[in-house]
Amino acid sequence: MSPAHVNVLLDAETIQRRVAELGAEITRDYRDKDLVTIGCLKGSTVFMSDLVRTIDLPLRMDYLGLRSYEGTQSTGVVQITSDLTRPIDGCDVLIVEDIVDTGLTMSYLLENLATRHPRSVKLCSLLHKPARTRVKVDIHYLGFTIEDHFVVGYGLDYDELYRNVPFIGILDPSK
Ligand code: IMP
Ligand code: MG
Repeated sequence: MSPAHVNVLLDAETIQRRVAELGAEITRDYRDKDLVTIGCLKGSTVFMSDLVRTIDLPLRMDYLGLRSYEGTQSTGVVQITSDLTRPIDGCDVLIVEDIVDTGLTMSYLLENLATRHPRSVKLCSLLHKPARTRVKVDIHYLGFTIEDHFVVGYGLDYDELYRNVPFIGILDPSK
């Protein structure tokens, strides 16, 4: 699916190359650990499904539903809409996120997960938009830093559409 009014920012091949590099790095770092990848619904599902297939280690996958966004405006209010299926105490948690924008969602989630006594928690985000930072969060594994654009595709949506676009692009405001 490649709608004409989405201008390509990162093409599919560029994304796949970077995902494989992140997977190789994670593979090196998590040998002999108890890795659980936690995907933030729904934006990270496409990224996480590609990422885990480049991690050459046993791992478990879980998902958390988070909502912090209405339209294109960050509300600053974070809500857990669906929780993990299993406890994470003693686990080496890797949060997998599509994009860190203001940082509000991830700072809330990092705090929330820490209360569940995992052995470690790290964050892997495909994208980072530093221009809009309101709370600084450490991104241990980062795909790409981008300018202050609202992007869609590869899991990212605008009002639930465009998640299945195979590249990351910018909506053409004139359309
Ligand atoms: P934050 O709390 O402002 O860091 O926003 C985090 C969430 O907002 C992300 O997980 C995305 O779901 C959504 N978001 C932020 N920027 C964009 C964007 O450019 N496109 C699509 N969704 C975005
Ligand atoms: Mg998200």
